Order: sequence, then C-alpha cells, then structure tokens
Amino acid sequence: MNKIAQTKFRVSEIISKRWSPRAFSKTLVTKNEVLTLLEAASWAPSASNEQPWHFYFGLKNTDGFRLILNGLEEGNKVWAQNSSALIVCCVKKISEKTGKENRWANHDLGLANATLLYQATEMDIYCHPMAGFNGEVLIKNLNIESVYEPMVVIALGHLGNADELEEPLKSREKLQRSRKLLEEILTEV
Ligand SMILES: Cc1cc2nc3c(=O)[nH]c(=O)nc-3n(C[C@H](O)[C@H](O)[C@H](O)COP(=O)(O)O)c2cc1C
Repeated sequence: MNKIAQTKFRVSEIISKRWSPRAFSKTLVTKNEVLTLLEAASWAPSASNEQPWHFYFGLKNTDGFRLILNGLEEGNKVWAQNSSALIVCCVKKISEKTGKENRWANHDLGLANATLLYQATEMDIYCHPMAGFNGEVLIKNLNIESVYEPMVVIALGHLGNADELEEPLKSREKLQRSRKLLEEILTEV
C-alpha cells in the first residue's frame, strides 16, 4: 500500500516511506534483524551520552512475545499479535553520572526509537509504536528492573495485507496519512 508522505520539500526516502501499519506479513523478521535495529537505536545521541534506555524484546512464537502481548491494551493486541517482534522501550530517569533526574531521558529514548524506526524502514521492516499498554503488567511479566520505566512498546514486521484486517482497522489502515502544515509548527524569528 502506498502511504508515502507527500512533502513540500524532498526528504529522505526512509522518512517518507515510514508509517505505522497494523497489518503484518507472516514472513518473520529474524533475530539478527531485530538486533540490527537495536544496535542502530544504541547509536542515537543522548545528553552526556547517558544512553538512558533499555529494550526488552520478544520474538514471535516465544514466551517472551506472549508476555509482552499480554501487557498490551485489547485494541492493540488484536493486530500486534501478528507482528514479528515486540519491543518494550524503557527509560532510565535517574542519571548514572549525577544520581539526579535526567531531564532529557524521555527525549533521548525518543531519539533512539526514531533511529530504530528509520533503520527498520531501510530494511523494509515497519514499526508501530504503542502507548496502549499496562506498564505494571509488563514490569511484572518481564521482571523489569525498578530503575526502568516502560515508555512505549514497538510492534514490528514486514508489511502485510490490509484486506486481512477486520473493520474498523481495515479502513483505518487505508487512510491517507496527514500532518499539520509547516506554517502551524514553525516560526521564523
Ligand atoms: C508514543 C506513541 C504512542 C502511540 N500509541 C499508539 C497506540 O497505542 N495504538 C496505535 O494503534 N497507535 C499508536 N501510535 C501510532 C500513532 O497513532 C501514529 O504514529 C500516528 O498516527 C502517525 O501515523 P504514522 O506513524 O503512520 O505516520 C503511537 C505512536 C507514538 C509515537
């Protein structure tokens, strides 16, 4: 399906091509590919090079995958169960260097996740980030260390067929993507 971003200025193909699908192919992403994505994430910049992130991942057909899936909200479970892998992206809010709050930790996890998403796009792997999960269930299911807070879960896989989704997901999958106008989000000073 063509969900390529229609941009005023020509941006890199990995940016215009990326989108968040709900239909995933039965062709699974390999463990090495997932590790490649996570290594890409690890090369994101971060304040004081704190790298305030930790990723818990589970590959399809493993107990780990089922434990993560179990922590998702029902509306996400329906389609995320067909993904190849689920990654729980956690943030460490306390600086390892100062012992105080790292105010940029969430920002830096976002950068790491963006790096992961664009590496994935280059590999023809599509990612769908989700905030719809129960953090307490994930912490319990995966024994997540108390220094980490689950911030987002990413479902990923190769693109599937939107027609295999149930409604209303099928129609939603086919909607054109949109963004605010540039004029709405920037101010030249
Ligand atoms: C932090 C975050 C949380 C999100 N949570 C969900 C979610 O729980 N369920 C869902 O279907 N999509 C979720 N999304 C996906 C967004 O709806 C999607 O990125 C947005 O509509 C833009 O679409 P695009 O990624 O295809 O460009 C989330 C995205 C982000 C970044």
